[in-house]
Amino acid sequence: MSITVVLGLQWGDEGKGKIVDALSPSFELVARFQGGPNAGHTLVFNGKKHVLHTIPSGIFGESQKNLIGHGVVLDPITLTKEVQKLDETGLDYDHRLFIAQKVHLILPTHRLLDAASEAAKGRQKIGSTLKGIGPTYMDKTGRNGLRLGDLSLPSFMQRYRNLRDKHLSLLKLYKTDVDFDLQAEEDRWFESLKTLERFQQVDSVYFLKDQLARGKRILAEGAQGAMLDVDFGTYPFVTSSNTATAGVCTGLGVPPQAISEVIGISKAYCTRVGSGPFPTELKDETGERLRKAGHEFGATTGRPRRCGWIDLPALKYAIAFSGTTQLTLTKIDVLNEFDEIKIATAYRYNNKKTDQLPFDLTHTPVEPLFETLPGWQSSLDNCSSFDELPPNCQRLIRTIEQHTNVNVKIISTGPDRNKLIKR
Ligand code: GDP
Ligand code: IMO
Ligand code: MG
Repeated sequence: MSITVVLGLQWGDEGKGKIVDALSPSFELVARFQGGPNAGHTLVFNGKKHVLHTIPSGIFGESQKNLIGHGVVLDPITLTKEVQKLDETGLDYDHRLFIAQKVHLILPTHRLLDAASEAAKGRQKIGSTLKGIGPTYMDKTGRNGLRLGDLSLPSFMQRYRNLRDKHLSLLKLYKTDVDFDLQAEEDRWFESLKTLERFQQVDSVYFLKDQLARGKRILAEGAQGAMLDVDFGTYPFVTSSNTATAGVCTGLGVPPQAISEVIGISKAYCTRVGSGPFPTELKDETGERLRKAGHEFGATTGRPRRCGWIDLPALKYAIAFSGTTQLTLTKIDVLNEFDEIKIATAYRYNNKKTDQLPFDLTHTPVEPLFETLPGWQSSLDNCSSFDELPPNCQRLIRTIEQHTNVNVKIISTGPDRNKLIKR
């Protein structure tokens, strides 16, 4: 039984898409298990950039199957746009993309509710991507949701109308106006349902049971990051799903003992998009320098990402609850020009120095305590092995390993799928 999980360990955008794409030739199936089109996963190869939101990042492989697991929330409109972009590349993938029947559908009014909820929160807003994620998961756990498989039931239209009307009543509770042409969005939504007919719909339990029984290797692709997990992240500034390893079992329907490896990804520094606590954030020119060097703008919303130094207490916490067995360090090349690199090794709060997170980072501001390491001030372009990396770059990697007690087995040195060092 062999499932390898690839997860972000920070606040998203760690480079999951790139790593999944690069590793996918060693797997027969790539599966997304949670999240939805709030994700933006960037793949770069042959000089071209591709951004995926719902479709797994194994889709550009030659033979891999790709599954959108039932833990995902799916918007037929965004999926249709994604499919149109893929079609333009000439890729042949219809027979390789599978969708779980129990995937929950994002309705136009879910997006409308997301926007109204955020507008009503004002300065306290989550900074949601406004893709309707929170309201859709609320309907799922509230037992009101509509699933892909429900589309073929005679009761579907009545259930759709009931849910939409309930949403419209709820909207009246928010004392804000949101600019939204519901009729046009509904027309687009129903039109987009046709896209779903192109792909095989499966019961993911039987589908994956069969794959596992036949010895197929499966790569589970996380979206968002551990610190955005609804249970363990910086609540309430989180997303609405379990982004870490626990989400693989519920989002795909596989047993925990089928998971053999958990690859946790961290940038060599840290970013966050949207609101919420970020202890190592740099609001100065160093933060601006990181944003420029790392092109830190959201792949889904285009928003500038907040930037700061790597936060090892947060990383160690994420490693603990995700069961990370090996680390991947991405975007280390972004630090090439820095003469000094800082890493937060502990926090101080309540007059105590500790490497543990408080109950609530929002209400317990922490002071990060930094260690400073020398930079390497050279390009990594010609480095294809760990030994070829500049000594100070190796030192940074070893220091992260010492603090986390987990080996860094993959180092990413650029956006392209080939810019990868394996140890
Ligand atoms: P994801 O959501 O985790 O898949 O990450 P995103 O695609 O949202 O953001 C990561 C960004 O960094 C993308 O623009 C990638 O092309 C880029 N990227 C990934 N790995 C590296 C790397 O090692 N170095 C550099 N410079 N860019 C990278
Ligand atoms: P990938 O998979 C970074 C953030 C939003 C917001 C919070 C809640 O590309 O790493 P939501 O739309 O889920 O209600 O937003 O979570 N967020 C992400 N940040 N990368 C993502 O995905 C994200 N998906 C959601 O910015 O702060
Ligand atoms: Mg992203």
